[in-house]
Amino acid sequence: MTELGPVAWPPAPIRTERLVLRESEARDRAAFIELFASPEVGTYIGGPRPRDELERAVPGVPGRRPGLFVIDLDGAMIGMITLDRRDAEHPGHVRPDAGEAALGYLFLPEAWGYGYAAEACAAALDWFADALPGEPVVLCTQSANDRAMRVAAKLGFTEVERFEEYGAEQWFGVWSSGVPSG
Ligand SMILES: CC(C)(COP(=O)(O)OP(=O)(O)OC[C@H]1O[C@@H](n2cnc3c(N)ncnc32)[C@H](O)[C@@H]1OP(=O)(O)O)[C@@H](O)C(=O)NCCC(=O)NCCS
Repeated sequence: MTELGPVAWPPAPIRTERLVLRESEARDRAAFIELFASPEVGTYIGGPRPRDELERAVPGVPGRRPGLFVIDLDGAMIGMITLDRRDAEHPGHVRPDAGEAALGYLFLPEAWGYGYAAEACAAALDWFADALPGEPVVLCTQSANDRAMRVAAKLGFTEVERFEEYGAEQWFGVWSSGVPSG
């Protein structure tokens, strides 16, 4: 994945009914470590990472890059959303030159089952449609990842293809804001 561009970053915090999408801060560090160390979160994305390794590797202010939103509920981080550019060497593309914006979402298990991921992703896609009008967004997830698949469907992603990667079937879909591109 390559950093999202060209966009003005960071945008002002984005408020939804229950959440705030914002840039990461030093106080989010423990939640980042929790996310990457969680076996539940890691199930379909390559497994959890050892906590001691994360404690050493995660920087003081983790995840500060264009396209990465921390999702904040009542002042605490409950998850993150990423928009990165998809590298050409991966299968799954909707543009001949690759580099599509790709959506990712990771939430702490205690925040699952409340509709927070769908609510936050919808706001991130709104922001994206404003920042880069007409550009599609792609999404790749293991087709066995039921929760992630339900979020994708709710957001309006439609299937482009399925393929094998990392030893599992991947579902590859696309979303567009409805504005014709080009
Ligand atoms: C993928 C992931 C973000 C989905 O989280 P989630 O909480 O299931 O997704 P949503 O925010 O859409 O919430 C949907 C659930 O909230 C419930 N819900 C409760 N209150 C709700 C409300 N007010 N509004 C909407 N839904 C609500 C829905 O009924 C639904 O429950 P169900 O799945 O049991 O039917 C989460 O499972 C995760 O972080 N997984 C690990 C990382 C990962 O695999 N990411 C995908 C790779 S891209």
